[in-house]
Amino acid sequence: MIDDSSQVLAIATVPVAFILPLRHAVLRPGLPAESARFGIDDLPATVHLAGMLGQQVVCCATFTPMPYAERPACQLRGMATAPEHRGRGFGASVLRAGERICLAEAATVLLWCNARIGAVPFYQGQGWQIASAVFDIAGVGPHHVMHKLVSRAVSSEMPDAR
Ligand SMILES: CC(C)(COP(=O)(O)OP(=O)(O)OC[C@H]1O[C@@H](n2cnc3c(N)ncnc32)[C@H](O)[C@@H]1OP(=O)(O)O)[C@@H](O)C(=O)NCCC(=O)NCCS
Repeated sequence: MIDDSSQVLAIATVPVAFILPLRHAVLRPGLPAESARFGIDDLPATVHLAGMLGQQVVCCATFTPMPYAERPACQLRGMATAPEHRGRGFGASVLRAGERICLAEAATVLLWCNARIGAVPFYQGQGWQIASAVFDIAGVGPHHVMHKLVSRAVSSEMPDAR
């Protein structure tokens, strides 16, 4: 029997332990489990998001304060969707949830990431822009820096200036 409730993605902030198995399987396959650990994982300001179908973590992303070009900024790391659940909008939903969380601290936030070449069209579709030449991350492959400036929505019902 199909449990309909498990077809609805729930997004939650979670301890890093919840997302490590998915991050490892998607982003560090075949490497030791520790390779999926990031130095920023346990910092108090780091936020881990899980996209969940029922109890199953199907998408994950991590956001941490990290300057970009000497500006205050927030770095996205560890963006991954389980292969069997790709193309269902889960990655985009988790990314948007992360943007909203980053905006809780400031009205405008610069987001950036080191994007794998294969994921560049995904980020572009979410409004991110390429901000560097291709560079290699050892053991992972070619990347671009990408970024996106996000702002809190401004009400369209602005007071009349007259
Ligand atoms: C990149 C990734 C996270 C996208 O997750 P996802 O859940 O499949 O993304 P979504 O379903 O929300 O995709 C949103 C849109 O982007 C498109 N898209 C997603 N991945 C894409 C890709 N690699 N190339 C082109 N388009 C892509 C989708 O088709 C969808 O388009 P639509 O809005 O027109 O329907 C996922 O493919 C993944 O885990 N890849 C392997 C790991 C990886 O590269 N992570 C990024 C590290 S920087």
